[in-house]
Amino acid sequence: MTLPIAFAHISRPHLLSLLRVAPKAELHIHIEGSLEPELIFELAARNGVKLPYADVEALRRAYAFTNLQSFLDVYYAGASVLITEADFDAMAWAYFQRAARDNVVHCEIFFDPQTHTARGIAMGVVIRGLDAAARRAEAELGLSVRLILCFLRHLDEDDALATLEAALPWRDKFVGVGLDSSEMGHPPEKFTRVFARARELGLRLVAHAGEEGPPAYIRSALDLLRVERVDHGVRCLEDPELVARLARERVPLTVCPLSNVKLCVFDDLGHHNIPALLAAGLCVTINSDDPAYFGGYVNDNFVQLFESLPSLTARDAYAMLRNSFEGSFVEDEDKGLWIEELDTVFAAIEP
Ligand code: HPA
Ligand code: ZN
Repeated sequence: MTLPIAFAHISRPHLLSLLRVAPKAELHIHIEGSLEPELIFELAARNGVKLPYADVEALRRAYAFTNLQSFLDVYYAGASVLITEADFDAMAWAYFQRAARDNVVHCEIFFDPQTHTARGIAMGVVIRGLDAAARRAEAELGLSVRLILCFLRHLDEDDALATLEAALPWRDKFVGVGLDSSEMGHPPEKFTRVFARARELGLRLVAHAGEEGPPAYIRSALDLLRVERVDHGVRCLEDPELVARLARERVPLTVCPLSNVKLCVFDDLGHHNIPALLAAGLCVTINSDDPAYFGGYVNDNFVQLFESLPSLTARDAYAMLRNSFEGSFVEDEDKGLWIEELDTVFAAIEP
């Protein structure tokens, strides 16, 4: 910490406004999950795609999820409207503009190429469209952007291997690989070879684990896939030895509070286990996951979490914001500059 921060003098209302204005990184956002219903219908009309929902309201009514799979069914239907490079560009550009309003200064966005290539959309269309929006966000919004290619774990490893090879002409456009989609019954070890291949290629490694799946999935993501961050990871608390290891190794957890409530991982935000994760010394970050589907972007996640959990302190807020930079895949120099900006915002509070 470069500047003294008077945490004890930060009032609750002030803390909520600090959460909004503080610079932050978002490390767990599926770009297909940022497609708002209005844009889904606009793209469907433009591309002549027929949706199984009559209108925006009917689609929104389908956002009553009972678990991860019930969400994924709607999420894949929504993604079916994406056809051209311009569509991927429009989707990502909308997210970048929205994220910048939440004072996100750096984001690492997941994309699911198999969702598109399986419908006959070329890999290049997906990556070039996302990259065009990312370059524009860097130029016009001053937002730093990295892409992470995710494998769909309900498909087999050969499909993932072929997907990685198909993306290699655009190797310079993504920094890492991840693992998402239906967790139960699809443990990380199913993807050991493709993660080893990605590692050989110098890609950074992350995986969803311990959202619905057991702590054993977090262990195999660490030991067999050799991931550097765990997406969600909230079920680690069931395994004290694993918690001790995650704390010791400072493995970042990209936690998504509103997502966890929408997908019934926790009953409500007041029962989220983030206070326990922090008390265990874990490197927790706050993220939106699929903001168009789960009722909020990253600041909504921060503010609603702190409103629901009075035990969370200004020190916790600072720690999670700082963790977002420390856990990011950028040069240490950039991390240091953003942490200085964060310190400046927090230190501006007069004792
Ligand atoms: N979990 C797993 N897969 C996903 C998610 C999620 O929350 N969102 C989009 N794909
Ligand atoms: Zn996710």
